[in-house]
Amino acid sequence: MSLTQNWIDRAGQHVMKTYGRFPLVAVRGEGCRLWDADGKSYLDFVAGVAVNGLGHCHPKVVAALREQAGKLLHCSNFYHIPQQIELAEWLCARSFADQVFFCNSGAEANEAAIKLARKYSQETFGEQRFEVITALASFHGRTLATISATGQEKVRAGFAPMLPGFRYVPFGDLDALRATINTGTCAVMLEPVQGEGGVNVPPPGYLQAVRQLCDAHGLLLIYDEVQVGCGRTGSLWAYEQEGVAPDVMTLAKALAGGPPIGAMLARRQYAESLGPGTHGSTFGGNPLLCSAALAAMQTLVDDGVLDNCRAAGAYLRNKLEDLRRKYPFIREVRGRGLILGMEMTIDGADIVKQAMQRGLLINCTVGKVLRFLPPLIVSREEIDEAMGILDETLASCPESP
Ligand SMILES: Cc1ncc(COP(=O)(O)O)c(C=O)c1O
Repeated sequence: MSLTQNWIDRAGQHVMKTYGRFPLVAVRGEGCRLWDADGKSYLDFVAGVAVNGLGHCHPKVVAALREQAGKLLHCSNFYHIPQQIELAEWLCARSFADQVFFCNSGAEANEAAIKLARKYSQETFGEQRFEVITALASFHGRTLATISATGQEKVRAGFAPMLPGFRYVPFGDLDALRATINTGTCAVMLEPVQGEGGVNVPPPGYLQAVRQLCDAHGLLLIYDEVQVGCGRTGSLWAYEQEGVAPDVMTLAKALAGGPPIGAMLARRQYAESLGPGTHGSTFGGNPLLCSAALAAMQTLVDDGVLDNCRAAGAYLRNKLEDLRRKYPFIREVRGRGLILGMEMTIDGADIVKQAMQRGLLINCTVGKVLRFLPPLIVSREEIDEAMGILDETLASCPESP
C-alpha cells in the first residue's frame, strides 16, 4: 500500500469529513512546489487558497518563527506584546486604519468587524440600527455570524436559525444597494473582488459609489480583504486600486505567510467603540504569529514581491487568454494581479482532478470557474510549466475541439 493510501485510510477513521478532500497527502513545500507522502511534486497554484502568498516556507518567515519560538511562544492579552504593537504600527502606517484587533482567522476577523459595526452604530444612532448589507455570491466565513453574512444559500443549509440582521444585494448593482439601505442599516460589507463567489471584479466606479452611499447614510464601509488583501491583487490592499478606502478592513490568510492569523483594522472613531472587555481572543496577536506576519509583510513590500505579482499576474492572464482563444468552452478570463478566474461552460471538477494527476494544483469555484492563486513569487518558468499542464488537461476534455 502507498504511504498516501495509508494516510487516507487513517484519515477516514478519525478526521471529520467536513472537506471533500483530494487524494493527496501533503508533507513538504518549498516556493511554489508541494510534495506528497510518496515523493511526487506538484506546482501549487492553490497556495493554501491564497495563504501561501510568499510560497511555501519562505526563509524569512521561517527564520522569524524560529527566532521568536526560542524567546516567547505565547503570552496573554492581559499584557502588552511588542510584536503585536509593531505589526499594528506597520499595518496602520500603510493603510487607512488607525487601530487593529488581532485574531486567528478570516471568519473571526469578520465577526469582529460585524460586532464593531453594531456596537458603534447602536451607541451612536440607537438600538434599531444593526443590519449589515452584504453581497450575493460573497463569502465571509463558516461561523454562525459569518454564514449569516455570506450571500450563498449553500453555506447556510442545515444550520438555521441564522443570526438576524443581514440583507443581500447583487454584487456590483448600485440601485439594489440604494433600495436596500433603510433606517436599520449600520454597514455595508463587501469583498473588493469576490474570491469564493467566482473571482468577480465589480464594475468600474462601483466601490466609489458605494463609498458615497455609505457616507450619505452614515454607514460603515467594511472590506473583507481576507482573500484579496496582503498583495494578492498586485497592491498591498485591493482597495488601493480603486482609490476608495473603507472604514474597517479584515485580513487573514496571507498575513503571516502561512501560520494562522486574522486582523480587523479600523479608523479610530469606530475602533474606540470596542473598549476593554467588549471583545477578545486568547491567541489573537500572539507573539509567534505577529513576528511571522511582520516578516511576511516586510518581505512582501521590501523584496519586490508586489512588483512580481503584477508582472506575473499580467503574464499568467495572457497565457489564460491564449487558452480561451483555443478552447471554445472557455467563456471569460477575469481577476486582478494573481487572483485569476477562468469561467467555462463546462464543469471544472474533472479538470482539477486531471491537472492534479499531471502535477498541477488548481481549484474550481462555483462549479465552472477555475481559480488560479499561485504564490506571489511565482516565476515565468513556473507559469509556463503550469500552463503546459493545463493545456494538456484541457485538450483531453471530451468537449475539446
Ligand atoms: C473573503 C473571505 N472572507 C473570509 C474567509 C474565511 O476565512 P477563514 O477560513 O480563515 O475563517 C474566506 C475564506 O476563504 C474568504 O475568502
